[in-house]
Amino acid sequence: MNIILLGPPGAGKGTQAAYLAKKLKLAHVATGDLFRKVAKERTPLSETLRSYMEKGLLVPDEITIRMLLQRIAEPDAAGGVIFDGFPRTNTQARALDEALVRENKKIDKVINFEVSRKELITRLSARCTCSQCQAPYHIITSPPKVAGICDRCGAPLLQRADDAPETVKKRLEVYFTETAPLIDYYKAQGKLVSVNGEGTVADVEKRIASVLNIKK
Ligand code: AP5
Repeated sequence: MNIILLGPPGAGKGTQAAYLAKKLKLAHVATGDLFRKVAKERTPLSETLRSYMEKGLLVPDEITIRMLLQRIAEPDAAGGVIFDGFPRTNTQARALDEALVRENKKIDKVINFEVSRKELITRLSARCTCSQCQAPYHIITSPPKVAGICDRCGAPLLQRADDAPETVKKRLEVYFTETAPLIDYYKAQGKLVSVNGEGTVADVEKRIASVLNIKK
């Protein structure tokens, strides 16, 4: 099974991807996490990635598609993937469809998260992220058990540089101009289901479980 989680920054894609990957035993592939990992290194590629991410801009398709295809060729992705934050442009969506066809695979469902702009901004300003495994927390609604420490791996939590208010504004603008058109792309393929992404994490989990017919 291959599932895409589509939605604006702060919609809860990473949070729900972690739940779904565990529940359905699928690989969780998040291009943002992949890029942040590589961006910590000291290579020309890391500098290029940082230069886009710091400004809230999309990393060019050529780099993104190459890294994504390498990632999904790894053994843990053979049984299916939860795509979190990919695709984000028409070119990426087409490249993914073509790559899956070559493997006799396909996208089964695209879950489109609907969340108001006000709620997105509130969530991103309260987010802290694990510096190692990138698990997301929210200082009010889903805080870690020990302040500043990741429940999953024990590493320190940090605020993402691109969660600064001006960068969030840019990321939202980029989402609505470059990524939101994919809603129609997947609607035309009959694969899109929209889910209300507001309410508690558990509320959203239940809605997603219901559209995917997952038993609790
Ligand atoms: P990326 O890391 O993908 O960021 P994003 O899409 O902007 O998504 P976020 O991680 O900000 O939000 P999310 O929807 O995962 O929400 P989360 O679960 O964390 O991309 C970063 C950058 O990388 C991009 O700007 C771009 O430069 C580059 N990039 C990545 N992919 C690319 C691609 N394909 N092409 C080109 N460039 C690419 O939740 C947010 C917060 O809300 C957390 O604090 C969480 O705890 C909380 N929360 C979650 N659910 C709820 C709930 N129901 N109620 C209350 N709080 C909640």
